[in-house]
Amino acid sequence: MKGVILAGGSGSRLLPMTKVTNKHLLPVYDKPMIYYPLQTLMNMGIKQIMIVSGKGHAGHFLELLGSGKEFGSKFTFEIQEEAGGIAQALDLAEDFADNEPIAVILGDNIFEDDFKHAASDFKEGAKIFIKKVSDPTRFGVAEIKGDKIASIEEKPKNPKSNYCVTGLYMYDSDVFDIIKTLKPSERGELEITDVNNYYIKKGKMSFATVSGFWSDAGTVKSLYRASTLVKEKLEINK
Ligand code: G1P
Repeated sequence: MKGVILAGGSGSRLLPMTKVTNKHLLPVYDKPMIYYPLQTLMNMGIKQIMIVSGKGHAGHFLELLGSGKEFGSKFTFEIQEEAGGIAQALDLAEDFADNEPIAVILGDNIFEDDFKHAASDFKEGAKIFIKKVSDPTRFGVAEIKGDKIASIEEKPKNPKSNYCVTGLYMYDSDVFDIIKTLKPSERGELEITDVNNYYIKKGKMSFATVSGFWSDAGTVKSLYRASTLVKEKLEINK
């Protein structure tokens, strides 16, 4: 399995911290944010990783991460010319994926869990990872019926559950054909939630719950929370 880190977007919710740098280069406690999703993929045994970023700061990612040698991996870099959503950024990884299944992670998602087994068990369709949160309106929210996900709503005003869809996804190679059928949402983006709903409708979506801590880090509060969680975790393990 190959891995893709989506590190585009303008980071507007973190202004002015993101005025002259990319959100994914900001510190989460003791490391640049992107080190965490990178570690999550590497813990899954993934060795070939593509980093998709916007134009402005692409050189900084390259300088920070290099070829991947230092991490025992091979990194590839791709540029998203304009911020057009997560699914649009993912589409840029089609040649890199080369018809193999991929794990996709958002560059601002900090996970404690190890997804090694999920990666080795994954064969086809799609898989998402959900987590109970207190503020579901900020996220994609899963509607669960029995042991299945019935639908996902992106940032619903009246969420059907407290289960947020976290920013780690596994897809088979159909994902790129699916992205090409998408239309921009009201916020003008190709939504990853639309990709996931497509798999759900086809009966090809599976899911697992995240048991350890998880946070995004795309707002001032969640960035602070992510740093605090990492700090606590490091202190427990000392
Ligand atoms: C994105 C996804 C959303 C998901 C979240 C996880 O939201 O669109 O479905 O729950 O990441 O971090 P964004 O951070 O782009 O608002």
